[in-house]
Amino acid sequence: MTDAALAKNEAETILSVSNIEVIYNHVILVLKGVSLSVPRGGIVALLGANGAGKTTTLKAISNLLRAERGEVTKGSIEFDGERIESSSPSDLVRRGCIQVMEGRHCFGHLTIEENLMTGAFTRRDGAANVRRDLEMVYDYFPRLKERRGSMAGYTSGGEQQMTAIGRALMSRPKMVLLDEPSMGLAPQLVEEIFEIVKKLNEEQGVSLLLAEQNTNIALRYAKYGYILESGRVVMDGEAKSLRENEDVKEFYLGIGGEGRRSFKNVKHYKRRKRWLA
Ligand SMILES: Nc1ncnc2c1ncn2[C@@H]1O[C@H](COP(=O)(O)OP(=O)(O)OP(=O)(O)O)[C@@H](O)[C@H]1O
Ligand SMILES: [Mg+2]
Repeated sequence: MTDAALAKNEAETILSVSNIEVIYNHVILVLKGVSLSVPRGGIVALLGANGAGKTTTLKAISNLLRAERGEVTKGSIEFDGERIESSSPSDLVRRGCIQVMEGRHCFGHLTIEENLMTGAFTRRDGAANVRRDLEMVYDYFPRLKERRGSMAGYTSGGEQQMTAIGRALMSRPKMVLLDEPSMGLAPQLVEEIFEIVKKLNEEQGVSLLLAEQNTNIALRYAKYGYILESGRVVMDGEAKSLRENEDVKEFYLGIGGEGRRSFKNVKHYKRRKRWLA
């Protein structure tokens, strides 16, 4: 590439992960050369079954692996034009990249509003700006406004997921790494949360890397997807072409080409049959 082409590529790509390898406890090789990129202002899905390596990939980016005795041993990660492998998680938040962890992780003994305010800890731009952003979060999540004074520990799973996303927004991120936002939530609520995420992407220009086991919903909201299996990217492409791919249909969407069903759905069917009998 010419210098001009490189510069253009950099302007258009917010996150670029090249061939990373991750090892836990010095011996367990979990990611075996993962590469992916997220365009500025884009939504990209990172798909895969249990244990495929989705969370590990997100934590490698946000530098949260060290706490788990994990380490990036090969490859490189660039965010917003800079190498970030050695930045601390809080450094990265300051640069505009933040992860919303799987399982929501709210402070149960703090109110929703106090939880949201903890997301502003890296900011130095004054209380008035923080207050304005809090109102912005409430505009996106009206439910949180209603429940602002409730202890997070007593709110529903959906409200806690919204709080976790809202808290990340309080750091004014350019990019959010969102780990399994659908986990454990009713389909209608999942839809509500994805709609808000889409709006945030469109109106605030926040780029998103979205790790999901729920392939169906992720491919409806993302433009592009990567499928991980045992720590390797086995397929990637435009969301539309992945949705139409026969293997993806059979193994990840549960709709086989010749009416075959995934194992999970077969089990579900049998369970229902038994209940009817
Ligand atoms: N701290 C750790 N120490 C050792 N192995 C780990 C650790 N964390 C994860 N692993 C292993 O790494 C692999 C990938 O796990 P990871 O959590 O990244 O998968 P995932 O795709 O996020 O799965 P899920 O959908 O269940 O969240 C798994 O085999 C897991 O057992
Ligand atoms: Mg995970």
